[in-house]
Amino acid sequence: MIYPKDIVTFVEADEELKKRFPWVNSLHPVNFASAENVDAPLNFEAYMLEEGYLQSKAIRKYLHFLATMYDTFTHIMHNFPVANKYKVHKDFSSPFGTAPFELMYHAVYLYYLDSYGVKGDVVECGAFKGFSACCLSWVCNYLGRQLFVADSFQGLPENTTDPYYEKGDYRGDFEEVQENVSTLGRIENVEFKQGFFSESLKDVHRPLCLLWMDVDLYESATDVMNNLYDNLSPGGVIISHELFEQSFDNDQLKESLGPAKALAEFLSRNKIRYKAMALESGSGLVVPCPSGDVQLAMSTEHCGFIRDRCRREIWQLVYSKQQLEEELRYWQGETEKAINAYNCTLDHKLKKIVKKLLSLVGLYKTAQ
Ligand SMILES: C[S@@+](CC[C@H](N)C(=O)[O-])C[C@H]1O[C@@H](n2cnc3c(N)ncnc32)[C@H](O)[C@@H]1O
Repeated sequence: MIYPKDIVTFVEADEELKKRFPWVNSLHPVNFASAENVDAPLNFEAYMLEEGYLQSKAIRKYLHFLATMYDTFTHIMHNFPVANKYKVHKDFSSPFGTAPFELMYHAVYLYYLDSYGVKGDVVECGAFKGFSACCLSWVCNYLGRQLFVADSFQGLPENTTDPYYEKGDYRGDFEEVQENVSTLGRIENVEFKQGFFSESLKDVHRPLCLLWMDVDLYESATDVMNNLYDNLSPGGVIISHELFEQSFDNDQLKESLGPAKALAEFLSRNKIRYKAMALESGSGLVVPCPSGDVQLAMSTEHCGFIRDRCRREIWQLVYSKQQLEEELRYWQGETEKAINAYNCTLDHKLKKIVKKLLSLVGLYKTAQ
């Protein structure tokens, strides 16, 4: 588990706590995979929620942040418009690309980077209807950062590498996304960049602490990396929505498919040292660690704990298991609702066409 700097400082300042939680130490992270330490982070999480909450302002602030963000993300999900007026490609009829629990990793990591003073804005490449942008805009607002949202606002471009995706998939209009973010997010923390990444990102020169991409295609991820990587601040990280378990070879990326392949190629072509790991639901983390930047490189080991345990342990300590299950059920239900809403629209359109055809041949009245 990664711990914000002020929490580590609080533990290190107390001899008794230091003995009790020796792993809460940014300089000597333990290997949480080893059997003896398997429950260690959980004990600290339990401590934070009980005694720690009362003893430390840093812990109170952190838990308050986690709880507020989780509540906010879930609230956004419950209130997000479900119908997609554009064509629904295969199985992704939901207006959300990323689930709230998945976006909590971004929130945790951003809080962590913020505590270590990593500079820069957050960039989101790939907005669809603006769901993840709404959620991240609240994190940015809390941390006093800007969220820079880049998208074609016309959906995916034509591609030659993945026949599964078609041009126009995941289309969210600029006005639609802007409206969603101004209704459910913090638009004052958001800037939009319109256009296909190959052109629109060319003139982006600003320090970034998080490069978050959810772009589906090999070509798009290549454009993002080519244009934005150099903007990453020292200590800044990349989270990609398309790094699946099979994209990893321990803490390195394998050349697989789509954006995972693009990332692996970019990092190897530019000889960038990094550590990578799977997070949740296909999201994965890449932490570049040029020589000397050992501390942040090590932090990926802490973060590995999030992948396996964080959702179950931390969120469930704050929120009951039942609530989490309800959220998952809601999530599945919403997808079905979106499909139905789309089918209804289709149905409606189809009925109108049939009526028109029938009326043309004079049968409308009888057919009605
Ligand atoms: C899966 S959706 C993003 C989902 C969103 N992050 C969420 O959680 O709701 C992918 C987005 O990437 C955008 N996109 C993909 N390739 C692009 C490119 N080359 N240039 C601009 N936008 C692109 C699409 O327009 C689409 O909005």
